[in-house]
Amino acid sequence: MIEAIGLVKKFGDFTAVDNVSFSVSKGEIFGLLGENGAGKTTTLRMLATMLKPTSGNAVLKGYDTQKEPEKVRAQIGILFGGETGLYDRLTVAENITYFGELNGMSRSAIRERIRQLAQAFGMTDFVDKRASTLSKGMKQKAAFARSIVHDPDIMLFDEPTSGLDVTAARDVHDFILRCKSEGKTIVFSSHSMSEVEKLCDRIGIIHKGRLVESGTLEELKIKHGNNDLEELFVRLVGAK
Ligand SMILES: Nc1ncnc2c1ncn2[C@@H]1O[C@H](COP(=O)(O)OP(=O)(O)OP(=O)(O)O)[C@@H](O)[C@H]1O
Ligand SMILES: [Mg+2]
Repeated sequence: MIEAIGLVKKFGDFTAVDNVSFSVSKGEIFGLLGENGAGKTTTLRMLATMLKPTSGNAVLKGYDTQKEPEKVRAQIGILFGGETGLYDRLTVAENITYFGELNGMSRSAIRERIRQLAQAFGMTDFVDKRASTLSKGMKQKAAFARSIVHDPDIMLFDEPTSGLDVTAARDVHDFILRCKSEGKTIVFSSHSMSEVEKLCDRIGIIHKGRLVESGTLEELKIKHGNNDLEELFVRLVGAK
């Protein structure tokens, strides 16, 4: 469903992503784990067609990100931490509606979807409030809902729970797991080993732009003879 093949991204002389390859099957959750500056966001931006690789390529649902970016974009829902992309003057529902229309959905389909998403994310109290009046966590939920209004088969989330409280993060986790049970393919980045452990079928550990390890949690535990993933992670990326 997703193939990253030797992705490289250089910014001037600096190599932010260095020959990263992985594949994610339909219905799988793949977690990209790494420290600040490791190259997670840059990798996800290349998958999302937002950034052109210096070399290598990515294929999503059979579409090459560089040859058919608009086809890729129609298949994916993307959420990048920090930038919610909401219009302040619009309400949550209006924001979602606008994005749904951009994706060719009918008004009635959008209305039904907003009802579902508002329930899933506990947004019913503020779905008709302007984005400018929302707390950070509320905005994040609204942005999350907006990113997947068109029910895409592939979801790319960059640190989807950053800034959320425990309950809100759990709502997002439950939602991601529900998407998986519906057969969606999901890639997300995280700093949190416990989050990755809870959600992912497979993980990739990225360090200084390189994918230093990837596999199922069980495979990694066996390979490194260590049941404590936190410790394993520190060991893999710790040697600075
Ligand atoms: N547009 C850019 N121009 C120059 N350097 C960049 C650019 N975008 C990212 N970088 C650099 O590439 C490296 C990887 O950045 P990236 O944002 O992918 O890391 P990250 O793993 O997402 O980190 P974080 O956990 O802090 O979000 C960093 O050293 C960053 O400074
Ligand atoms: Mg990042």
